[in-house]
Amino acid sequence: MNQKIPTLQLDNVGKRFGGLPAVDGLSLSAPAGAITGLIGPNGAGKTTAINLIMGILKLTSGRILFNGKDVSTLEAADLARLGMARTFQNIRLVADGTVLDNVLSGFHIHQRTGFWANLLGLPYAHTEQAQHRAQAQALLEQFGMAHLAGHRAGTLSYGHQRRIEMMRALAMKPQLLLLDEPVAGMNDTEAAELGHIFSQVAASGVAILLVEHNMRFVTQICSRLYVSASGRLIAQGTPETVLANPVVIEAYLGS
Ligand SMILES: Nc1ncnc2c1ncn2[C@@H]1O[C@H](COP(=O)(O)OP(=O)(O)OP(=O)(O)O)[C@@H](O)[C@H]1O
Ligand SMILES: [Mg+2]
Repeated sequence: MNQKIPTLQLDNVGKRFGGLPAVDGLSLSAPAGAITGLIGPNGAGKTTAINLIMGILKLTSGRILFNGKDVSTLEAADLARLGMARTFQNIRLVADGTVLDNVLSGFHIHQRTGFWANLLGLPYAHTEQAQHRAQAQALLEQFGMAHLAGHRAGTLSYGHQRRIEMMRALAMKPQLLLLDEPVAGMNDTEAAELGHIFSQVAASGVAILLVEHNMRFVTQICSRLYVSASGRLIAQGTPETVLANPVVIEAYLGS
């Protein structure tokens, strides 16, 4: 029994809004180095699960473990510092900021130098800023957006804005990356390009939990799938076995 502890574990997690369960006894794990999928029909509780993991919402029951430690009661800011990052189902960017500024904002969470050091132009502040710019540049190249660095984020296409969100999340150097419908509204070619990048990110040792409706995409990049319907886990396993499961097919057809 020398198995490595998964980066993220949900242990019988529940969340009720008023009397109604949005997430009802959800257990899953997301190991480092892999993309784990969480799928299910609309209203299945997927976004709620992400908000619980990130500390935006408080659990009604169960536990959330991060690298084996119970983080169920921690605040969002602490969890971000510990190494959780996410993208939103509805894009949230500084529309008037440049692409580079938006990506750079992701680095602030790890910034050592404070406001005064930056203002006074202390040497270490310059060094840190230069490092962040270089790392942001590398992300822009990885995502094929280096030529757009100076463009205002709000003027770009939906697909590009999605990429900016992901770069900003990756700038936080997360151990766990939560992606809520990252390829919604993209065509298969765009989705496949992003899927390739996600696989690279996972291969670098990050645990990725992916919420997504695009089944082709999910099947291509996830090593394991969890299926939720009306807040409850109805199936789990490899993409092939899960998507062939009559219970899963029924849940989708019924919605
Ligand atoms: N803040 C809230 N207050 C009350 N009910 C909520 C709240 N957030 C979500 N719900 C309810 O919880 C259930 C799960 O919603 P959630 O957004 O997590 O589903 P989802 O799986 O992300 O759906 P989709 O695929 O449409 O994004 C829904 O019935 C929703 O109406
Ligand atoms: Mg959702």
